[in-house]
Amino acid sequence: MSQPTAPTGANVAPAPNVPTTPTEIGKFIHGAGMLKKILSLMAFFMAFVTVMVVLFIYMNNTAMRHYQFQVNMSKDYELLEVKQDNPQLIAYIRQMHLRPVKETQGEYTDVYNDTPVEDLGYILKLLNNKSDGIFIEAGAYNDGKTSETAWLEKKLNWSGLLIQPDPRHYFSLKKHDRERSQAIHGCLSPSPYPKEVSFHQGDRDGVKINSIHSNSIIDDSDIFNTRVKCFPLYSLLLAMNVTTIDYLCLKTGGTELQVLETIPFNRVTIRVINVHLQNKDIEKDTIKKFLATKNYSFAQHLRESYIFFLNRKKRLDTKIDTEAL
Ligand SMILES: *[C@@H]1O[C@H](CO)[C@@H](O)[C@H](O)[C@H]1NC(C)=O
Ligand SMILES: *[C@@H]1O[C@H](CO)[C@@H](O)[C@H](O)[C@H]1NC(C)=O
Ligand SMILES: *[C@@H]1O[C@H](CO)[C@@H](O)[C@H](O)[C@H]1NC(C)=O
Ligand SMILES: *[C@@H]1O[C@H](CO)[C@@H](O)[C@H](O)[C@H]1NC(C)=O
Ligand SMILES: *[C@@H]1O[C@H](CO)[C@@H](O)[C@H](O)[C@H]1NC(C)=O
Repeated sequence: MSQPTAPTGANVAPAPNVPTTPTEIGKFIHGAGMLKKILSLMAFFMAFVTVMVVLFIYMNNTAMRHYQFQVNMSKDYELLEVKQDNPQLIAYIRQMHLRPVKETQGEYTDVYNDTPVEDLGYILKLLNNKSDGIFIEAGAYNDGKTSETAWLEKKLNWSGLLIQPDPRHYFSLKKHDRERSQAIHGCLSPSPYPKEVSFHQGDRDGVKINSIHSNSIIDDSDIFNTRVKCFPLYSLLLAMNVTTIDYLCLKTGGTELQVLETIPFNRVTIRVINVHLQNKDIEKDTIKKFLATKNYSFAQHLRESYIFFLNRKKRLDTKIDTEAL
């Protein structure tokens, strides 16, 4: 009788790859460790690539947006639909932009001579030494220190509006003793509608309007230029609630003719106009011809001042009772 032999482990073939001896187990664990290392390396690599790609896309996107913003912030915005006598525009200017001049007490103490400077003396002769007159001065304190109309305000009780687009000069303007006047940080629009433009610091005397002076949108993209609003002169007059003024002084850095062309001369009366022109300005004769069609006579050229006055005929028509004009 044969005893059934008890099955021994030796007869059962070990499953392949299943480690049985301690050394084999060690090897297996070692192999799994390698795999783990490779996997984690790959995971790290994938994460790195993903992060870099995301970063790259993000940076590209940011650069695009930055560029777009620069483009947006250097464009001229033309508010073509807004007429210069639009009541909402007038209310907006009056409430948001016209400001009393004096902010701090006696920051600058201006000294006034008894007699005005030459060109102003000439203008006063035309206006018969008028007191309590009304002026508009575009480019007031362009040098940060002086204004054509300060003497009129101090000595003859005039009042008016000071226009200055350069933020630095505007802040110094506000520290002068001009409590009878108002000021606006902005410029005169060269078109009969309001617009928003970039102010380029260091230009001749004031604002540079892209569409007029150059076609390059971004010429100095690293500099963040101040944005200023430009309003038509007529809109400013309506915001001040006047349609008759005695003296308009224009220093707008090259846009004088365009500014004059926006004025509806049949609706406003401006007695004397002083256009500041530099020698290189070629539009002197054009301005003379243009103003002649609006019944202005050219009176005198003193330094940079080209002085025009509304002629007698127009005055009789509109019944302005100033003998000297
Ligand atoms: C730029 O202007 C366009 C059109 O006015 C506008 O859609 C866009 O969001 C602006 N982009 C930036 C970055 O200001
Ligand atoms: C105007 O005032 C000046 C002094 O500032 C004087 O010399 C001149 O005669 C006056 N002119 C008129 C027309 O009153
Ligand atoms: C200006 O106003 C002051 C005070 O209101 C007055 O005393 C002075 O005579 C006025 N000057 C002129 C030139 O009208
Ligand atoms: C504008 O002036 C007129 C008369 O000169 C006056 O009746 C009116 O109240 C003024 N309006 C404002 C808003 O100052
Ligand atoms: C200029 O004067 C003439 C004659 O008086 C007048 O008919 C015309 O309307 C005036 N022109 C302007 C722009 O005021």
